[in-house]
Amino acid sequence: MFATMGALGLAPTAEAAAGERRYRAPRAGDFTLTGTAAAEVVVLGGGVAGLATAYELGKAGYRCTVVEARDRTGGRNLTIRGGDTLTDLLGHRQTARFAPGQYMNAGPARMAQWMLTMDYCRELGVPVEVFTNMNADAYIYNESEGMDRPMRYRTAKADMLGYVSELLAKATDSGALDQELTADDRGRLVEFLADYGALGEGFAYTGGSRRGFSVYPGAAGTPGVPYGDLPTASQIFATGVGRYFSFESEFDQAMPMFQPVGGMDAIPRALARAVGGDRIRTGCAVTEVTDKADGVTVTYTRGGRTHVLDADYCVAAMPPNLLAGVRHNLGSAVRSALGGFNPFSAGKIGLEYASRWWESDHRIYGGITETDLDVNQIWHPSHGYHGERGVLMGYYTLDTGADAYAELSPVEREQRAVAAGLRIYGDKYRTELASSFSVHWRQFPYQEAAWHTSLESPDAARYKPLTEPTGRVYFAGDWLSYMDAWQHGAFASARKAVTALHQRVLATRR
Ligand code: ALA
Repeated sequence: MFATMGALGLAPTAEAAAGERRYRAPRAGDFTLTGTAAAEVVVLGGGVAGLATAYELGKAGYRCTVVEARDRTGGRNLTIRGGDTLTDLLGHRQTARFAPGQYMNAGPARMAQWMLTMDYCRELGVPVEVFTNMNADAYIYNESEGMDRPMRYRTAKADMLGYVSELLAKATDSGALDQELTADDRGRLVEFLADYGALGEGFAYTGGSRRGFSVYPGAAGTPGVPYGDLPTASQIFATGVGRYFSFESEFDQAMPMFQPVGGMDAIPRALARAVGGDRIRTGCAVTEVTDKADGVTVTYTRGGRTHVLDADYCVAAMPPNLLAGVRHNLGSAVRSALGGFNPFSAGKIGLEYASRWWESDHRIYGGITETDLDVNQIWHPSHGYHGERGVLMGYYTLDTGADAYAELSPVEREQRAVAAGLRIYGDKYRTELASSFSVHWRQFPYQEAAWHTSLESPDAARYKPLTEPTGRVYFAGDWLSYMDAWQHGAFASARKAVTALHQRVLATRR
């Protein structure tokens, strides 16, 4: 009884008392003392938010029907394997020719350890492995800043941190910070800088082993050959390499990160299994949502025929840009709120290689090479090490850069991506190439966005008709969270909708 009252918000829970807003999944037992019963819910969209909604409500016996426009669930959580096909909205057709066991995660590809996504992997039995988001031996290549060859991440970092530390130590020592710091503070700061920047006599940065070696140290007689050509402070600043270093400190991107073993789509597959295939209708494009006093009617088309589905409640977990095009009677506030999310572009190309030359020749195992070329980033796979083949992410482009690539045919995209990679890695970038597959989310059917940008936080007043139910319709999606463009945001938002809906049903005697 007390637990049920807690779920209803009528009794303080231990979590609430501790000041935490912990999620509590609906349970069948919640209904026993309240004289209420689970309801029928139609969920629009079989992406991560939609599947998570049906999965969580299913725990308490809600009869959910997931309506998904595509022939598969998962939404942007998409793993491409050999045989997969895609025709984008510009008419580009592709069939993946990846060898068995090879794949690319075309949408989400990494998870931070604090994210709810990890909790769902644990709960659903999806094994995870480390995703290397940052690699000291990956490259940085800023051609437009005058770099004519790539620099190892560790070299760039040693030089930038070394010179910045040198300058700050010298400034401190010469009295520039006397107003800001006590003598004790200055001493501690200089001690930190000497260590952080590997400074020598007179606070000078003179390179050292942190920069890396062109011949690795070995047995006695082989001390190794450190990378030569120590740049001056001015030269290293001019390369612009420092612009990439804050990434690893971001709350959502810091190492260690993780990925499901065998492909990111293990998550929606496990969710769909738990929801039950008979509860999911694929190939069904929603055309109308009607909120009524006693229920919700959803109209969808399948194979040219129109179908109608009635339920007690609806959770709309479709992309906001597409939901905006669905006829509804939810009012102008919902319309205006949906209009506040702008579709953002991103695209990725998987380049399958017949050998893992980046491991054998470049000694790079996982991680990301940063460039100022139009490919933006190149990702080395964080699995399958020492295997026969592997799939590099040849570009991860954003915004107008992604749209420019999207305009090209898949063959042209591959050629352009390979031409860029060649400049960094040399001939094998072309000669070892086996196949490729590219995905652009703005041009992807029934998505039309990689993610969304909004001018205001999800708690802004204009989004209230979406973060709270409008009639009997609830909304869910990463775009309604503080972690948009992450599955974590989709899960968090789904949980919020599920909790609100369940509390309402518990409070509604039938
Ligand atoms: N969350 C997305 C990424 O990590 C945007 O690239």
